[in-house]
Amino acid sequence: MQIANDPVFHRADLAQYFVDYIKSPDASSGLFLAAPRRTGKTTFIKEDLMPLLRDQGATVIYADLWEDKAINPSQVIVNAIRAAMSANEGLITRTAKGAGLTKFKVAGFEVDLAAIGAHDGISLARALESFALATRKAIVMVIDEAQHAQTSEEGRQTLFALKAARDAMKGAGSPGFRLVATGSNSSKLATLVNAKDQAFYMAPLEDLELLGMDYLAWVLQMSALRQKPTLSALRQGFEMCCHRPEPLRAVLRELGRVRSDAAVAPDALDARFLALMRQNLQAARDSFLQGVHGMAALDACVLRRMALLGKDFTPFDAAALAHYRQLLEADGSTPELPTQSSVQSALLRLQKEGLVWNAGRGVWLIEDTQHSEWIRASLSAQT
Ligand SMILES: Nc1ncnc2c1ncn2[C@@H]1O[C@H](COP(=O)(O)OP(=O)(O)OP(=O)(O)O)[C@@H](O)[C@H]1O
Ligand SMILES: [Mg+2]
Repeated sequence: MQIANDPVFHRADLAQYFVDYIKSPDASSGLFLAAPRRTGKTTFIKEDLMPLLRDQGATVIYADLWEDKAINPSQVIVNAIRAAMSANEGLITRTAKGAGLTKFKVAGFEVDLAAIGAHDGISLARALESFALATRKAIVMVIDEAQHAQTSEEGRQTLFALKAARDAMKGAGSPGFRLVATGSNSSKLATLVNAKDQAFYMAPLEDLELLGMDYLAWVLQMSALRQKPTLSALRQGFEMCCHRPEPLRAVLRELGRVRSDAAVAPDALDARFLALMRQNLQAARDSFLQGVHGMAALDACVLRRMALLGKDFTPFDAAALAHYRQLLEADGSTPELPTQSSVQSALLRLQKEGLVWNAGRGVWLIEDTQHSEWIRASLSAQT
């Protein structure tokens, strides 16, 4: 069986823009890229940005901190560095491995692959530096969903180790090092660059442009539909689903399923497409809100307060406790005053469900901005 991969709309100009940015001194502290969930960050990074960086002579190391949430983020980063070193050291590594050795010499340094990042082993900074010197290529470390590095002490330490590498490789003799980090929410990423005690304090944070009209024109061109909606209807539908390709694809597929022999007037087809989009989004929203409704009452109220306040959310102060009580009452519950510990348990349950994210230091955020919007709209509809 031949499994077809998703066709990719390439964003060459955007990739060139970021490659120029990454090479420039403006990115010497690192570059942080944010875009909402499911809008194409990973696709852009893997399909456009990384190939172009490689074409331009960099060694690119990629680590996705969300790939396996069970593995500690620091381990994911170290593994990615080890794998890249093994793959790139070619003959040296192969010879070393063939001989059952994990140690080899590059550019005068002895490198022990197994010991990179380990407690007493070679430091990440030293390993990356020798790697860059041996290959005579700049290293770009790409960390997808970098905010997860903050969720453990080792993860935070690893970011500091990468900062040390960055600083060590600033000298004229070194090919150089850049960190590129992505995240699905600029508030989450901002916690990595806005606090003085963070490794990448004051690194630039950029919004990754959302897929736009050129992407939609490509979707229309690629579509096998006998009759296609207009570009303008497609744009409206795409805005409704927050610029996410998946709902758009699903609705276009559904549109193709509506069988009709007679040709439909373009206006009627556009209206049908937009109605399907509305229905699909409503179904997704209703099912999410039903889920919220079905939660323990306090969990739902904590989530609601978080949606209402965004980055100003505080979980435990007197105003928060009073707010939960007010929300519980509005919900028809006759609650006891929520306590710090009951709120803490609610937060942990929400975190386990993947609905909220803990940025440390009492900062909590809703994972998916679409969820916040749905909750806010449902609350304002009630009042
Ligand atoms: N340039 C593109 N061309 C075609 N399809 C795309 C493109 N970008 C994204 N998609 C599609 O959109 C969906 C989401 O893409 P992707 O996983 O890259 O987004 P993401 O922002 O990294 O998501 P997450 O927030 O889950 O990490 C995928 O199904 C992907 O195939
Ligand atoms: Mg992604």
